Amino acid sequence: MRFARVLLFTATAFSTACARTSKSHETVLTFSGSALGAEGTLVAKQLRRFMELHPDIRVELQRTPDDANQRHQLYVQWLNARVGNPDILQLDVVWTPEFAAAGWVLPLTRFAPASSEFFPATIAANTWAGQLYALPWFADVGLLYRRIDFVPDEPRNLGELVTDAKRAMARPGGPRFGIVWQGARYEGLITGFVEYLGAFGGRILDDSGRVVVNQPEAVRALQFMRDELYTSHIAPLDVLTWHEEEARFAFQNGTAVFMRNWPYPVAAMSDKSQSRVAGKFAVSPIPASGAPGGHSTAALGGAQLAINAYSESPDSAYRLIEYLTAPEQMLERGQAVGQYPTRPALYHDPRLRTAIAIPLDDARRAIESATPRPVTPIYTELSEILQIELHRALVRQAEPQDALNSAAKRIDALIERTGMRKLMSSAHNAAPPASSSTTGHTE
Ligand code: GLC
Repeated sequence: MRFARVLLFTATAFSTACARTSKSHETVLTFSGSALGAEGTLVAKQLRRFMELHPDIRVELQRTPDDANQRHQLYVQWLNARVGNPDILQLDVVWTPEFAAAGWVLPLTRFAPASSEFFPATIAANTWAGQLYALPWFADVGLLYRRIDFVPDEPRNLGELVTDAKRAMARPGGPRFGIVWQGARYEGLITGFVEYLGAFGGRILDDSGRVVVNQPEAVRALQFMRDELYTSHIAPLDVLTWHEEEARFAFQNGTAVFMRNWPYPVAAMSDKSQSRVAGKFAVSPIPASGAPGGHSTAALGGAQLAINAYSESPDSAYRLIEYLTAPEQMLERGQAVGQYPTRPALYHDPRLRTAIAIPLDDARRAIESATPRPVTPIYTELSEILQIELHRALVRQAEPQDALNSAAKRIDALIERTGMRKLMSSAHNAAPPASSSTTGHTE
């Protein structure tokens, strides 16, 4: 395994060395990120335009896996080895504090980015110890997709969602599955959990950074996921191995009544040449449970662009980040692949209207009220604990209460061990951390 990694670094370093010496006057940047389907075509097009504007810079696209955990692991390997490329990293919204605290990405302060032009929540998620480390590229919010030919009205609460799903499944020619979602043991599972947690009035941490993930509301949320969304068979049996794309394929092929997913599937699913549900689906917020204190919740996700701290060309890297996050490129991305811009001003632009499946004001509000996951450099470890315990409960190796008790205990120990307690209150972002490198990265 270790040998394979060494080979990977060597191969990467070799190709870069070759590229960097190909033309002496040229700066070569490597840009990494997801580049699937229409998104890949768009990125390539925007990079080409950037190069036309900057003939002295050549940008190479380096593909990375789409699974959030796999991409994270790859980045951690590269950065632990202090590899200077990719120069520009596409970070998940939950990684920035970790990468910042580890010294792997550069603070953007010296470039004076216009941070007030972005949604405050997306800027807060990319700020660590008072400094901004990445620019928000697109925002993700969890949404409920439904087949309007089977369920014309959006469910008002989670109970209605389950009833609607069962009723539609029972109809002649009705879809095989009631709801498809991301149940694999990876980051996607946490985002779904955050949504049911909010729907039942629970949280992972409270405002003072106390672990509250084993409180009764959280237990009810996990029970709902296990009993109503899984054991009741309204979800496919193998949903516990599914990511975003498996869910999209199932819904797009007409086999599901509801789907939990991010905004990105709208574009492909609206295209008649590849989708059986074009014109037959609508998007709405994931409903609340109806229990006191519960509210309709969307997890805040999304991609950010940051500069690798070991990059040889940070200034050119910033020019590319600035270009890709500029209003024109963001708007084009919204139009081409339906991803939500991180600039509120664009939500007044009629060109975005046809690309986004819900009214623009609703989309803007969804981002403004979306629930962030804990903003902390130890997020990855925290999430891993939770992923394992949630999965144990979903596959019935443990009761929800026991699994969440165990998660709470382990997360608490993690916070204690890393000295993160003070920094995890909601006010932590204002204060500099006690030490800049808090976690040992050994992945
Ligand atoms: C999407 C979101 C990201 C989230 C991931 C989970 O990529 O943008 O924030 O962590 O999905 O699978």
